[in-house]
Amino acid sequence: MNTVRMGLIGAGGWGSMHARTYAGMPGAELHGVADADPARAKALADKHGARAYASTDALLTDPDIDAVAVVTPDFAHDEVLLAAARAGKHILAEKPLAMTVGACERIVTAAEESGVMLMVDFHARWSPPLYKAWEAIREGEIGAPRHVYYRLNDRIFVPTEMLPWAGRTTVLWFVGSHAIDTVRWLIGDEVARVYAVSRRGLLQGRGIDTPDYYQSMLEFRSGATAVIENSWILPNSMPNIVDVKCEIVGDEGALYVDQSHNRALEKYTGTTGSYPDVFVMPSIYGAQCGFAADSIRHFVDRVREGQKPMISGYDGLMVTKVICAIEESIRTKQPVDLD
Ligand SMILES: NC(=O)c1ccc[n+]([C@@H]2O[C@H](COP(=O)([O-])OP(=O)(O)OC[C@H]3O[C@@H](n4cnc5c(N)ncnc54)[C@H](O)[C@@H]3O)[C@@H](O)[C@H]2O)c1
Repeated sequence: MNTVRMGLIGAGGWGSMHARTYAGMPGAELHGVADADPARAKALADKHGARAYASTDALLTDPDIDAVAVVTPDFAHDEVLLAAARAGKHILAEKPLAMTVGACERIVTAAEESGVMLMVDFHARWSPPLYKAWEAIREGEIGAPRHVYYRLNDRIFVPTEMLPWAGRTTVLWFVGSHAIDTVRWLIGDEVARVYAVSRRGLLQGRGIDTPDYYQSMLEFRSGATAVIENSWILPNSMPNIVDVKCEIVGDEGALYVDQSHNRALEKYTGTTGSYPDVFVMPSIYGAQCGFAADSIRHFVDRVREGQKPMISGYDGLMVTKVICAIEESIRTKQPVDLD
């Protein structure tokens, strides 16, 4: 296949980033857009010279669409993903794959039965500093990984101003899903047991029924351990929307990653100071760059080549299993073993 004709389902904030990426990518074409709100679909489609569909079904039944990106809210992935798999479209699913283990299993099975590719967009695997850490581990430079600390937190802006549906998800689904996948990938192992705590109150006080933060301890099959922190209550005065820190200690060395407050660029104006994003989704000479676009490019390339993407539906399923175990641990105040 020379050009992958993409259908975008979900024309919100992150869907717009997908659209810019396909629009400027050789080998991809933003063919059409659908959204529960047809006016949104039309506005985004018009911006990129694509077709707007009146419904998701209309997009999925168009034979001119080869693959779809599902960029609907976290709680609205499963039905759309199942329909896409049954329609025989290759699928790039935004994270989390789905919010129950049963739904993830149904989606993975439906994709297998239809013979379509299914990738979950865990794009941190394309982050330059995290990739170099992964490579150093693979090359044995720090020996066997023993313990990891991974923090992926957002300014309170995200649940209070950016996501109208924050009360229907949690910071654990929204960014913790990235963190869990990244640590699985870095260590190269699956989680065997979790213990977690979470607190709520600040966001509830603002009318958003979701926890403020989670601190989760993960034990891997190898015996390696990880502490993961996901908070949605960072002050809006933080210099980045996202705060990402990662520390990996091995038998023979250690790796320290600061992806957000690394001061690659410090910007001070008359009134504010910030460290603008240079890794995730910078636009350079008008083109969508950064590792958010790189993971999307990987999906498109693999569809063109007829090869399976590096990240599968199985990865999405495993992350959802860990999140559900974390929620159970919080409910029971006990460690929870995974199968
Ligand atoms: N990879 C990342 O780092 C990253 C970053 C931001 C968001 N996301 C993910 O992208 C997804 C969308 O997030 P967002 O910030 O763009 O949200 P958003 O609210 O800005 O946009 C969601 C869009 O989906 C539409 N929609 C809702 N239900 C639908 C349905 N059933 N069918 C079709 N359209 C529907 C809404 O009308 C809206 O336009 C979420 O799963 C989120 O976790 C990923």
